[in-house]
Amino acid sequence: MGVNTSGMFWRTLIRPILFRLPTEPVHHWSMSAFHASMFPPLSTVTRAISRVANPELRTRLWDIEFENPVGLAAGFDKQARWFNSLGNLGFSHIEVGTITAQAQAGNQQPRLFRLPADQALINRMGFNNPGADAVASQLQRQTICTLVGINIGKTKVVELAEATDDYLYSFRTLFPFARYFTVNVSSPNTPGLRSLQSREPLVELLDAIQRSNRELAAAQNTLPRPILLKIAPDLDDDQLADIASIVLETAINGLIATNTTISRVGLATPQSTIATIGDGGLSGKPLTGRSREVVGFLFRETEGRVPIVGAGGIMNGEDAWQMIRHGASMVQVYTGFIYGGPMFVKKINKHLVRRLHESGMARISDAVGTAFAG
Ligand code: FNR
Repeated sequence: MGVNTSGMFWRTLIRPILFRLPTEPVHHWSMSAFHASMFPPLSTVTRAISRVANPELRTRLWDIEFENPVGLAAGFDKQARWFNSLGNLGFSHIEVGTITAQAQAGNQQPRLFRLPADQALINRMGFNNPGADAVASQLQRQTICTLVGINIGKTKVVELAEATDDYLYSFRTLFPFARYFTVNVSSPNTPGLRSLQSREPLVELLDAIQRSNRELAAAQNTLPRPILLKIAPDLDDDQLADIASIVLETAINGLIATNTTISRVGLATPQSTIATIGDGGLSGKPLTGRSREVVGFLFRETEGRVPIVGAGGIMNGEDAWQMIRHGASMVQVYTGFIYGGPMFVKKINKHLVRRLHESGMARISDAVGTAFAG
């Protein structure tokens, strides 16, 4: 089945049915069913039809070879259950989490809402996850067949002043299983978390993680893991400039820009519906412009010295291409995948190959930041 045929099948038949069902349960049912079906030969066939095995897409960052520049953003596989199955859909990497040191149930349901008129989602999940120990034993029990990064955050009941130790617990516990780590200080759904983006607590946190990273690597005779920092789109230019200088000072390996936004500006969904939904992070199409702008700002501010993973409102291949042209070395998707369906990643990768050829470029890294060239 071609990408266009399967895309139409998704848009006209499957998605309308799924979108009539309650948001969070349907995520679990559909993913559990998909996961259960991912055994040979179906997994092999799915993998074969979803991949774009083109060497021009290969992206090497932090000595890791990514098959293509498109990953699944954090929040989709919060329990580290589905990453192998998801890997069959063409993603180069799956970011598991956010995982916290202690297990937590998250906020009360409903906490995930669709805004179809805006191709967006609002969520206030609140880091529901089984906790670092449970995730570690789960990862221990299985073979990890895809490239997994782990996103760590702060346990809700832990005071902000104790945040560093809380992050360190998750980092140490999950160290053997992650190819890279993301330090999440940007979710709007854990009270106070985003204040960790200011200089003093952020430097303390990142320095402590880097120290632990070196110690664990030496003790386990392995390499330190690349550490990425995930930031909010709601920071102003001064705050972003501060983040850029902190990243350079603490020798953090990369940035993920961005998380969801607390803004509700410019939505087509009626104001009354938005008010009924209430608090949470907005993702999807309304975020496209802002996330791209943040990536561009950080790229220029760091003079291209720090790899940036662009996330936020990538709803099609052209959005991914523009994110790369504005300075992203790789991209991650979430809401676009929910709206676009299982062939979404293939579509993006095919578009990227087409754009590379049109521009006469040999590989993705040639396109990074070209929006600012000349
Ligand atoms: C998220 N996101 C997220 N990010 C994170 O670092 N940790 C998390 O646990 C979650 N959880 C989460 C749940 C849901 C339901 C959504 C929609 C999003 C944010 C996500 O990784 C991404 O940064 C943003 O959603 C922006 O990308 P998209 O969705 O516009 O492609």
